[in-house]
Amino acid sequence: MKKIDVVLGLQWGDEGKGKVVDVLTPDYQVIARFQGGPNAGHSLHFEGKKYVLHTIPSGIFRDGSINIIGNGVVIDPVILSDEIATLEADGVDVQSKLLIAKKAHLILPTHRIIDAASEASKGKTKIGSTLKGIGPTYMDKTGRNGLRVGDILSPAFEERYQRLKAKHLELLRQYDFQFDITDYEKEWLEGIENLKRFRFIEGEHVINGLLDEGKAILAEGAQGSMLDIDFGSYPFVTSSNTICAGACTGLGIAPNKIGEVYGIFKAYCTRVGAGPFPTELFDKTGDQICTLGHEFGSVTGRKRRCGWIDLVALKYAIMVDGVTKLIMMKSDVLDSFETIKACVAYKVNGEEIDYFPFDIEGVEPVYVELPGWQTDMTKMQSEDEFPEEFNAYLSFLEEQLGVPVKIVSVGPDREQTIERYTEE
Ligand code: GDP
Ligand code: IMO
Ligand code: MG
Repeated sequence: MKKIDVVLGLQWGDEGKGKVVDVLTPDYQVIARFQGGPNAGHSLHFEGKKYVLHTIPSGIFRDGSINIIGNGVVIDPVILSDEIATLEADGVDVQSKLLIAKKAHLILPTHRIIDAASEASKGKTKIGSTLKGIGPTYMDKTGRNGLRVGDILSPAFEERYQRLKAKHLELLRQYDFQFDITDYEKEWLEGIENLKRFRFIEGEHVINGLLDEGKAILAEGAQGSMLDIDFGSYPFVTSSNTICAGACTGLGIAPNKIGEVYGIFKAYCTRVGAGPFPTELFDKTGDQICTLGHEFGSVTGRKRRCGWIDLVALKYAIMVDGVTKLIMMKSDVLDSFETIKACVAYKVNGEEIDYFPFDIEGVEPVYVELPGWQTDMTKMQSEDEFPEEFNAYLSFLEEQLGVPVKIVSVGPDREQTIERYTEE
């Protein structure tokens, strides 16, 4: 039976999913985003150019590919239209390659305002949301109030929009928050009109049909497992299931149709926004990782918090995701380091634990220190060139995590990707 492979982030997002999907797409005919929305920023580098995608699957640049925005995604028509316009200006034929699930929910201008008002009211306890209206949109989805892409075609759409907007305005009265949606609403309605030229599909039927035809399908996740609404560092998470199971609900595919699960992680760890981060560094090493890794958010431009790799959290993510192959990104950022640390356990109230607990607030990391490779790896083409210390680092990770590292990324460009030919 043909199965769907899944790419997902194992940390707090920004692991390099965009690059990996772009690198893997020659082997796939269909790429489908299954959750999240414009809170995502997936970067792709090739032929001297950099692109950042928010809602559109990262397969869009490959000739002949089919790119599906799945039912689990939330769409802001303004941001999606801008994204489409940028790609079209660069000669990408988005019209023929993009399909949008009718069951995907729409982010309204007032969802963005509620997001901002809610965050402002939380003061110090704010989540550090990207303020794209993600949380309020998923709340309306589960609250059974939402508007979906398929509704755009209904003659009652305008009326339903006004009704939901009125509800939001009523809700906003409880906040002391000034706003004016006039301009954004105008753009939003234009965005809705613009989306009508794309194909709205019954996503679950189309995807299962493509699978039956024998097409190779890759599901693209957004955010990372530590931001999952159920299993992440709640409440400092996003509002969707970012884990592998999200691919089933976000596309309409059965669990037994999942094939390979590619788990992506950085050779260190970053987090943008608030919330616990056990291995966070507040010293020169943290600054060095941030500078060398250009760790600034692709959506908000915020400085990403940096720290050492956290194998306790990674093992947990691998477990809930059912990862079959690991992909390590950005090892080049550590190329100059004399030593590298990896967190192998947490200390909680003086006791050492090696599993990811209910609450990670205040846990202390227990580190193992390994020698760095101190070699510029950015131009390497094959694993035969890997320094001894780097191979030792990989073996250590594989032993700790129990899953093989199949691909190593040594720079942002498509070409800076090395496949490992280890035995299965
Ligand atoms: P995503 O959200 O998971 O797609 O990741 P982002 O695009 O938000 O962030 C990853 C950043 O790292 C982007 O700027 C990528 O261009 C860059 N990047 C990806 N892989 C590598 C790598 O192996 N080395 C370096 N130095 N940068 C990388
Ligand atoms: P990609 O797909 C990193 C974080 C935000 C915030 C929390 C909730 O590029 O990896 P939200 O806007 O979803 O309500 O924000 O989640 N966050 C991300 N961090 N990468 C992302 O996406 C993120 N999407 C959301 O910073 O802490
Ligand atoms: Mg990103």
